[in-house]
Amino acid sequence: MKISIAKTAGFCMGVRRAVDMVLDASNKAKEPIYTYGPLIHNPQVLEMLESKQIFRMDTIPESGKGIVLIRAHGVPPQDEKALADVGFTVINATCPRVVRVQVIIDKYSKKGYDTIILGDEKHPEVIGLLGYARDKGHTVTNLDELQALPIFEKAVVVAQTTQNTKIFADIQAWCRKNVPHYEIFNTICDSTEKRQNEVREMAVTHDAVIVVGGKFSGNTKRLAQVAAETGKPSMHIEQASEIDYESIAHAKSIAITAGASTPNWIINDTCSRVEQAFREKQPGRRKIMAVMDVLMKANIILAAGAAC
Ligand code: F3S
Repeated sequence: MKISIAKTAGFCMGVRRAVDMVLDASNKAKEPIYTYGPLIHNPQVLEMLESKQIFRMDTIPESGKGIVLIRAHGVPPQDEKALADVGFTVINATCPRVVRVQVIIDKYSKKGYDTIILGDEKHPEVIGLLGYARDKGHTVTNLDELQALPIFEKAVVVAQTTQNTKIFADIQAWCRKNVPHYEIFNTICDSTEKRQNEVREMAVTHDAVIVVGGKFSGNTKRLAQVAAETGKPSMHIEQASEIDYESIAHAKSIAITAGASTPNWIINDTCSRVEQAFREKQPGRRKIMAVMDVLMKANIILAAGAAC
């Protein structure tokens, strides 16, 4: 049995940085610490943070005390200001690659440009980006939606960092041909693309794929979708206890990958459980285990006899 863990599995740079920043703040601070929204989309990490007295805050109260950390997705600038205004000390852990998109939008919207974002309008990163667009922001999820927008006198086109590169390439090609006065910036983060490419490559050399990560994590869901599209048996699990061993019972090699918000301990636990399950499945191993079982029982009987 061969089990391989993807090199790109687990925390991306932005998520690792945000987790490190909040843990560092919690080690130093005496006051309460909050994250504005869930720090990352992984319930196990959120539980770990709560055990360290780091709580999630979803709305801005009328007055506040303590530290609030802005997560890697970023927030609208109005929210950052409001948090400081009500009395919180704000630590901004927005991923530098998301900050780059915010800066581009801010620069062009100051000059009166409309902003077109390829992304999911409900995603926190996009909500944050729209805040920099000064009421001239538009979201699209594909080329058809972009074509349905009016042609703006001046516009800047960007993408949510975790968007599909193929869709953005189509948008870019269409804009160059039909609206050459638009400013276009490819702001897709390559960590997502590398992760998706690696799972495609691993699916070629492995019999099954396990994707580990939060069920509400957008990038993990897309990764699971890429794994499913390879045609190899695949599953999306949040933690090792959810592994469906039946579906991979005939696999001789398994690839394990994980979304950007999955911590290493869950990836390693998944790997060990799969390894253990397949070791126990081997016929030689089963015989040894059966003999050991008998010996252990005999031992218990002898011990019991001695005690009598
Ligand atoms: Fe940042 Fe890319 Fe991760 S934008 S949060 S490093 S997926």
